[in-house]
Amino acid sequence: MSDQPPASRESRAQVRQMLLIGAIASIVGIALALWIDWFPVPGSEQAGPIDTLWDVLLIASVPIFVLVETIVLYCAIKFRMRPGEELKDGPPIHGNTRLEIIWTAIPAILLVGLCTYAFLVLRDVEAKASDPVKVRVVGQQFAWTFYYRVGGKEVASPQLYVPINRQVEFTLQSKDVLHDFWVPSFRIKKDAVPGLNVTYRVTPNRLGEYAIVCAELCGLGHSTMRGTAHVLTQAAYDAQIKKLAAGPSQAPPAQGGANGKALFTSSGCNGCHTLKDAGASGTTGPDLDNVLKGKDPAFIKTSIVNPNAEIAQGFSAGIMPGNFGTTLSGAEIDALVKYLSDVTKGG
Ligand code: CUA
Repeated sequence: MSDQPPASRESRAQVRQMLLIGAIASIVGIALALWIDWFPVPGSEQAGPIDTLWDVLLIASVPIFVLVETIVLYCAIKFRMRPGEELKDGPPIHGNTRLEIIWTAIPAILLVGLCTYAFLVLRDVEAKASDPVKVRVVGQQFAWTFYYRVGGKEVASPQLYVPINRQVEFTLQSKDVLHDFWVPSFRIKKDAVPGLNVTYRVTPNRLGEYAIVCAELCGLGHSTMRGTAHVLTQAAYDAQIKKLAAGPSQAPPAQGGANGKALFTSSGCNGCHTLKDAGASGTTGPDLDNVLKGKDPAFIKTSIVNPNAEIAQGFSAGIMPGNFGTTLSGAEIDALVKYLSDVTKGG
């Protein structure tokens, strides 16, 4: 070793220095990455293995990122061009087989290992239970509606209710464009694709209320496409679903027709509009208590089926979906118009 030229000894010392800086920075980076609270409180059985997977991915990827950055910065500082060196070129390099094998083998081993681990976790968290609670989730610009099976029929609600410690199977559907159903506390999310039934399963294991968000940019109201997931005890869940089943669709028609009121929610109008009678407080679109006050049914009908015909002051064209004329039946539109006309007559 002593007969090596001084330049080689110097470059070995530089490599050692880079690796040392890289190792220290990696330890700091890993500590920082694990210290950050990346996710909201875990609310499902699936959250544990997914969070552990995330931590392992961080531990594996932070050192690689840090090492690459260390080498780039070290070289930029240490080997920068000095005055008078403008026309100089470095020594010619004809490849380094050992280095190439190392930098191919290490990422290959890491990738195969992490993919295998991720696959096993995915298979594990997607395992199907024998009697899942089924909930149909329908997305549309810009609201979620949840359908529960009671006896032979389905009841709808803008709220998600699920029992604790039972697997829930969501079937995702979309009435218009791509949406993505995500309860961050449950961790898993999937796209709702028009024309497809997309399913996934989670097992909520913590009582409480959790945010639902849409995780796919779906239009101007995307950020308002939110909801609440209620994880209840089995008894409270049963009572809640019973209450839904006994709700508007079975009650005698109230003023304006209960049907119109139910449609207002199930069609997602409540996601964007404010309407006191329906308990809606959306602000993406105009406040209907104001803009529909004193308007005749023909105006209301046009506003629903051809929303760009007349735009309320302060709002833009193209935000409200223009396809309600095809996604709702004629009878449904009439019921909705009658309901809106009745509740906004005002005094
Ligand atoms: Cu629906 Cu974003």
